[in-house]
Amino acid sequence: MLNIAMKTGSNFFEWTHRRADGTDFPATVLLTRVNLKGKTFIQATVRDITEQKRAEDTIKNYALNLESEVKRRTTELEMEKRKVEGMSEMKDEFIRNVTHELKTPLSVVLANLTLLKDYSPVGREKDWTKLLDMMERNASRLNHSVNQILSFSRLNEITPKRERTYLNEVVDSVYQEYLPLAVAKGISLELDIEPVIVMGDREMLAIAVGNLASNAVKFTEKGMVRIILRGFRKSATITVEDTGIGMRPNEAKRAFEQFYKANPSAPGTGVGLTVTKEIVEKHGGEIGIESKPGKGSTVTIIIPRGI
Ligand SMILES: Nc1ncnc2c1ncn2[C@@H]1O[C@H](COP(=O)(O)OP(=O)(O)O)[C@@H](O)[C@H]1O
Ligand SMILES: [Mg+2]
Repeated sequence: MLNIAMKTGSNFFEWTHRRADGTDFPATVLLTRVNLKGKTFIQATVRDITEQKRAEDTIKNYALNLESEVKRRTTELEMEKRKVEGMSEMKDEFIRNVTHELKTPLSVVLANLTLLKDYSPVGREKDWTKLLDMMERNASRLNHSVNQILSFSRLNEITPKRERTYLNEVVDSVYQEYLPLAVAKGISLELDIEPVIVMGDREMLAIAVGNLASNAVKFTEKGMVRIILRGFRKSATITVEDTGIGMRPNEAKRAFEQFYKANPSAPGTGVGLTVTKEIVEKHGGEIGIESKPGKGSTVTIIIPRGI
């Protein structure tokens, strides 16, 4: 150390020094060569760096702790992620079970109800039919709810097919499906369509339109529901008008929210419009509501023809 200072003029290094009482302490040493009256001296400046070392150690420890804390959190997050993935698998499995356990027996009930209508006891035909109709309506409602929940829970996973779809056929089948319900309620269901082909997912579009018809018939007690289909060069519009209870502006705004129902005790799952909007948007389309309380509602969807 001294030699370096003699040769180069100075030397700076860390060193462990011993105090008079025998205890060691860390220090920095600066050796400087000094020429004084023709003689060469080495001047030493020693600085106690105990505090500095302590601070450095604290920082080092802190960094180490931080690192292990980050590791711990990362492991925790990975475990969470795995748990969520597991849950999503469980959800899929659950949905498959629900499908089987609810839909299969329901379809048996519905099919047999239709058959039963031919077996009315003589003299009691009217009562018999009335009861069976009631059972059929309720079984259909249950079937509808199960389908709603299923289409809602599967929404994220599916991308719409791109198949040549006659929207008029889709809309017509929805009309046929809701006609008996409208007749039973004493409201008229009108259909005003023209042939339109779009590239899209037939089944999903039928669900989207079905939800609109379902709402219109459900929330209308007198008057009519009209389903209109128009084809344009680049798009098609489907409009479902009703003369039902209508919605206040804030209700119409919230109608697309998951599980939202303006009247929580009205029948329904509150996911129909969420599903419809999602399907429409997955087709690159748009949806809008115009509504007045007590007057009725008009829901319009625009689907790009994609041809
Ligand atoms: N045609 C309509 N007339 C009046 N209110 C409607 C209509 N369509 C939707 N709504 C309101 O929007 C809510 C959400 O509709 P939706 O998502 O289809 O769920 P659900 O039909 O299961 O209640 C309904 O509960 C209702 O309050
Ligand atoms: Mg609905």
